[in-house]
Amino acid sequence: MYLQRRNRILRTNASIRNLVAETILTPADFIAPLFIDEGQHVIFEIPSMPGYYRRSLDETIKEVKELWSMGIRSVLLFVKAADDTKDNTGKESWNPDGLMQRSIKAIKDAVPEMLVMTDVALDPYSSYGHDGIVENGEIVNDPTVEALLKMSLSHAKAGADFVAPSDMMDGRIGAIRKVLEENNFTKTGIMSYSAKYASCFYGPFRDALDSAPGFGDKKTYQMDYANRIEAIKETLMDVEEGADIVMVKPAMAYLDIIREVKNSVTVPVSAYHVSGEYAMIKAASKMGWLNEEKAIIESLTSIKRAGADLIATYFAKDAVKLLG
Ligand code: PBG
Repeated sequence: MYLQRRNRILRTNASIRNLVAETILTPADFIAPLFIDEGQHVIFEIPSMPGYYRRSLDETIKEVKELWSMGIRSVLLFVKAADDTKDNTGKESWNPDGLMQRSIKAIKDAVPEMLVMTDVALDPYSSYGHDGIVENGEIVNDPTVEALLKMSLSHAKAGADFVAPSDMMDGRIGAIRKVLEENNFTKTGIMSYSAKYASCFYGPFRDALDSAPGFGDKKTYQMDYANRIEAIKETLMDVEEGADIVMVKPAMAYLDIIREVKNSVTVPVSAYHVSGEYAMIKAASKMGWLNEEKAIIESLTSIKRAGADLIATYFAKDAVKLLG
């Protein structure tokens, strides 16, 4: 048989495969999400996220040091607000002595070069478990944005490198940029959850923070997963309003969106490999139905190949170990 081209030549062995590999994961690609709780010496395994923990701040600091020593350079903070601090205004979210603000300071003190990114949304602080303020059963946009501005500013004051609004209210990126500028926080970045879909894959996360919506769902603010063009509209608007980094979330069921966004913007694109995606791999591996290590690397590689420049993932540590 005469063949002009034999594509298998480039797949003959690992040396040539690695030489021509188009996508290479490195520890610098990952953002490690961290769940923080009040207390001391608390390391609580999240039932729907086996192998992932919610920690008190003292234990979080140890974890951050370990992440840094492994080559992971950014963390994304989420806190579990105490029940008695929750209300419809979400005011605990801008308490200068709140758990988030204390955590930002403590992490920056312990590992100053670690990039600290903070979730900006009201859900952990809301008595309704919604990302915004509720009036007559509706999540109201403009008053919510006002609250997000106070929250963002308090994170910046505490020393956050990036605020990461995950709420999907209209106009919040431009408003946050403006308030940061007006208060001279010219070095604080904005990583916008630009195309965040109303997804069932956030279930385990809501267990981790006890933040499930008390009524209804999040479909009046998070995007409909039937839509693709809308993701581009949302993302372009966030870039225009001042987002430094944009995000697509979740990741694996949205690889087409990641690619489309990547082709549409000139800012870095991040993807959030969310809690449900973590849980799926963990559960199937536990049953012996998937090889966990291979599933982790293949999943993360596919997300990067789709166009993600950075990936928020609960597998950050595992991946770094596996990449050796
Ligand atoms: C809060 C927020 C959520 C996630 C990140 N920020 C939950 C939600 O929107 O309901 C989900 C992350 C994950 O599932 O890993 N707005």
